[in-house]
Amino acid sequence: MIDVKNIYYAYHQDDKYAVKDVSFHIESGEIFGFLGPSGAGKSTTQGILAGLLELQKGEIVIDGQSRKGMPDKAFFNRIGVGFEIPNVYKKLTGLDNLKFHARLYDRETEDPMKILDWVGLADSAKIKAGSYSKGMKQRLGFARSMLNKPDIWFLDEPTMGLDPNTANSIKKLVKRKQAEGTTIFLTTHNMFVADELCDRVGFIVDGKIEALDTPKNLKLKYGQPSVTVEHLVDGVLKAETFGMAGDDKAKLQDFIGKHDVKTIHSGEPSLEEIFVKLTGRVLE
Ligand SMILES: Nc1ncnc2c1ncn2[C@@H]1O[C@H](COP(=O)(O)OP(=O)(O)OP(=O)(O)O)[C@@H](O)[C@H]1O
Ligand SMILES: [Mg+2]
Repeated sequence: MIDVKNIYYAYHQDDKYAVKDVSFHIESGEIFGFLGPSGAGKSTTQGILAGLLELQKGEIVIDGQSRKGMPDKAFFNRIGVGFEIPNVYKKLTGLDNLKFHARLYDRETEDPMKILDWVGLADSAKIKAGSYSKGMKQRLGFARSMLNKPDIWFLDEPTMGLDPNTANSIKKLVKRKQAEGTTIFLTTHNMFVADELCDRVGFIVDGKIEALDTPKNLKLKYGQPSVTVEHLVDGVLKAETFGMAGDDKAKLQDFIGKHDVKTIHSGEPSLEEIFVKLTGRVLE
């Protein structure tokens, strides 16, 4: 659905690129994620895709049509953009914020009250957004981004700074929209969000994609699966971990046969471990 071909972006007119030769493809109806540390180029890429930053170099093709030849109005009508820092009008109530934005679209929009309810803001609908907490503003921004029932939804760190319950309800909404056919581009530096939500993940560091695959494949390809066996020794629970390569399996079988085994857990590496291994960087 979306083909991104060799895009570059420099904030200043120099060769310090925030995004360097980035190419990827997003399938229709998939959640495609960018995982990377601060300053990696995630928001810059989203800005270019959403048309907020100029496409300086490279090409973006949507449904076979070059983005460059596409009228902005038609494109903006079909996308939703959730910003890293939510843009809310502080003097308007939450409800009026949404009503105002709904008028900017030339297509059917959601009932503002309904989406405020989805994001847990129904009770605060008539309160000025300026007095909302940080998390409430973020949820309002998130609600705004889905007002026009977007076909393509860009979400920049959608759960950052939210408490676990609220983050979960946001993740559920993202999944629900995907089930309804929405194509989603999501950026995060949270490996749990990437693992849980994304069909495919691109690792991005210093403006470059270092790896790209499903979370499962990345773990299978680059991680070392292991099995941890808990066993009793003189009434004390101990743990032993085995790899799965070479003669490790035989060692595991031998160990199980000779010990008073209580639990066996298979462990798969986390996306963060793979990220560190492939990029030499941590997700901060
Ligand atoms: N408005 C700007 N002017 C100049 N440089 C910028 C600007 N915005 C971002 N940059 C630089 O571009 C690079 C990529 O930034 P970007 O915001 O895309 O990263 P990010 O992956 O979204 O990071 P974060 O996780 O902190 O949101 C960084 O080196 C950053 O300092
Ligand atoms: Mg960012």
